[in-house]
Amino acid sequence: MPEFVKTGVEGLDSILNGGIVENAAVLVSGNPGTGKSIFGLQYLYNGVDQFDEGGIYLTFEETKDDISQAAQSIGFDKWDDFVDDGRIKVYDKRTLLRSGDFSSTLDTILEDLQDTQYDRLVLDSLTMFQLFFEDEKEQRQYLLKFIDILKDSGLTSILTMEQSAVFPETEIGLENFLTDGNIYLIQSPAGSTSNRYIWVAKMRKQPIKNSMFPLEIDDGGIKVFEQAAGFSMVGESAPWFADEDGGGLE
Ligand SMILES: Nc1ncnc2c1ncn2[C@@H]1O[C@H](COP(=O)(O)OP(=O)(O)OP(=O)(O)O)[C@@H](O)[C@H]1O
Ligand SMILES: [Mg+2]
Repeated sequence: MPEFVKTGVEGLDSILNGGIVENAAVLVSGNPGTGKSIFGLQYLYNGVDQFDEGGIYLTFEETKDDISQAAQSIGFDKWDDFVDDGRIKVYDKRTLLRSGDFSSTLDTILEDLQDTQYDRLVLDSLTMFQLFFEDEKEQRQYLLKFIDILKDSGLTSILTMEQSAVFPETEIGLENFLTDGNIYLIQSPAGSTSNRYIWVAKMRKQPIKNSMFPLEIDDGGIKVFEQAAGFSMVGESAPWFADEDGGGLE
C-alpha cells in the first residue's frame, strides 16, 4: 500500500482515493485562469497548516510579494508566517533568474533539493522552466533529471502546465507521459457565466475516480464537489456541449 500526501483540498483527496502517492510528480494543466497557481499555493499552505509538512515553491513568473498577495487574496492568511518561519521556502523569479546563467542556477537548486527536509514542492510553471532549454531533447533530459531528484529527495510535487488549446482539444505533451499523475483544471463558458471542473486523468499506482467533478474557487481556495454526479468524458452531458443556458450540471 503506498503512502499518501493529502492535498487538503475539500473533496479532492477522496477522488484521489487517499491523496497523491508519496514521491509522485503530478502535472496540473489548464488554460489561463483555471486555478493552477491557486491549487499550488493551497497544496503547500494546507501541507503546513493541516499536516505539518513543509513545502518549497518555485516560480519563474512571480516575485515573493506577488505570491504573498495572491495567497492573502484567496484567504491563506498565515502564508507569510509560514514563509517567515521557513516552513514554506520560496524561490521566486528574482532568486532563480539572478545569475544570467540558468543552468548554474538550476544546479544550485538541485543541490539544495538533495538534502532537503521538505515534503512538498510546487513548480509554477513547468512551461516557463522548459523555455530555458534549447531543444526538445534537452528539455526531456532535464525534466527526467529534475523529476528523479524530486523523488530521491522525498518530495511529492505539483508541476503546473499552461495549456494553449481549449479543452478537450488538449495537446498531450511529453510532460504528460513523464509524470506520475495528470490533473486537468477546466473552465467552460455556460451562458453568461462559466463552470469550473477538475479531471484526474491519470495517477500511477492508484485507483482514481476519473470522471469530471465541478469545482469552485472562492475565499479559502478551491473546493471540489465530489458528491455532484461526476460525468464521463464521452457522451452528451459534457459541459462543452451545453446549450445557451448552461446545460450540463445546472
Ligand atoms: N479570492 C478569490 N475569490 C474567487 N475567485 C478567485 C479569487 N482569487 C482568484 N480567483 C479566481 O481564480 C482565477 C485565477 O486562478 P489562478 O491564478 O490560479 O489561475 P492560473 O491557472 O494559475 O492562471 P495562469 O495560467 O494565468 O497563471 C481567477 O481568474 C479568478 O477567477
Ligand atoms: Mg498561474
